[in-house]
Amino acid sequence: MNQNIEKAKKNLTEVGFLDVDTPKDIDFVAEINRLKKEKNAVILAHYYQEPAIQDIADFVGDSLALSYKAAEVDADIIVFAGVHFMAETAKILNPDKKVLLPDLNAGCSLSESCPAESLQALKDKNPDHLVITYVNTSAEVKAISDLCCTSSNAKKIVDSVPLDQPIIFAPDKNLGAWIQKETGREMLLWDGACIVHEAFSIDKLLKTFEINPQAKIIAHPESEAHILKTAEYIGSTSGLINYVKTNPANKFIVATEAGILHEMQKEVPDKELIPAPAQEDNSCACSECPYMKMNTMQKLYLCMEHELPEVHVDEEIQKKALLPIQRMLEISSTKDD
Ligand code: 13P
Ligand code: SF4
Repeated sequence: MNQNIEKAKKNLTEVGFLDVDTPKDIDFVAEINRLKKEKNAVILAHYYQEPAIQDIADFVGDSLALSYKAAEVDADIIVFAGVHFMAETAKILNPDKKVLLPDLNAGCSLSESCPAESLQALKDKNPDHLVITYVNTSAEVKAISDLCCTSSNAKKIVDSVPLDQPIIFAPDKNLGAWIQKETGREMLLWDGACIVHEAFSIDKLLKTFEINPQAKIIAHPESEAHILKTAEYIGSTSGLINYVKTNPANKFIVATEAGILHEMQKEVPDKELIPAPAQEDNSCACSECPYMKMNTMQKLYLCMEHELPEVHVDEEIQKKALLPIQRMLEISSTKDD
């Protein structure tokens, strides 16, 4: 009986209050701003969050910028408007701070493709390999990695490893293949992919380009090789935003999650941004990440009001997982030659 009550409570809090009634007519913007002040909380949001969440966040960025921000934040509570691995990275960097995630179910197909036991098995088979993992992984995976990377710094991180040192790169095979091409370096690639970036349709993309021949195609490196081949620029979310800001063209076809268009359009209000089309059989027939979009203004408000659900990381795992993240941040902040 007690166990059932505990289980129900756990569900209510960990599922992200899906079943909790919110008072009607609530002004989420006003309430969230009030809670930020009252609780000395900071909201960090990824570019793939819904526009209202990006607008109320204290900082919006790509995975690397969010990691740096999480490392230097001076607040009692970090509210992470992103997915679980991002909030977990913030917790690893701030074990003594409370880290909240509006919906604990906000996962990631890349992270899910790479359980720690399976990566350990690959390591055991290849004991001479150094392990570089994309930040889109669990704390347990980071704890058995030598280095982490994001799409912003993956090339720099791989280049920092001596040429005669074999590398396992996990879990994104598309990012890995692109980095192999960029660095001329063979790596042992994990077979994982992002469900959003794998859903772009090359046929539809080429048709869109045919109708808009003056547009520049830009793409995130989680996209498949045939999509990347068409792109004039390949980069992380912040790299893509920077490109449309600095490139003189007036039209861009953007191959990444559609949430980025909010910040991008704010930066270039007079330019035309066309989202790259997804395949018809894509579950949402669009390029939205179903995990990222689990967070809503209602859940953000409830999570700040109740200070739940909280992200926890086992102490031993936290200590081990911190090392590859710190190495990444150090290498990443060194000047390019
Ligand atoms: P960046 O924001 O680092 O480009 O990563 C995109 C991503 O995978 C977020 O899920
Ligand atoms: Fe994961 Fe792809 Fe969603 Fe990013 S967009 S959280 S990589 S599933």
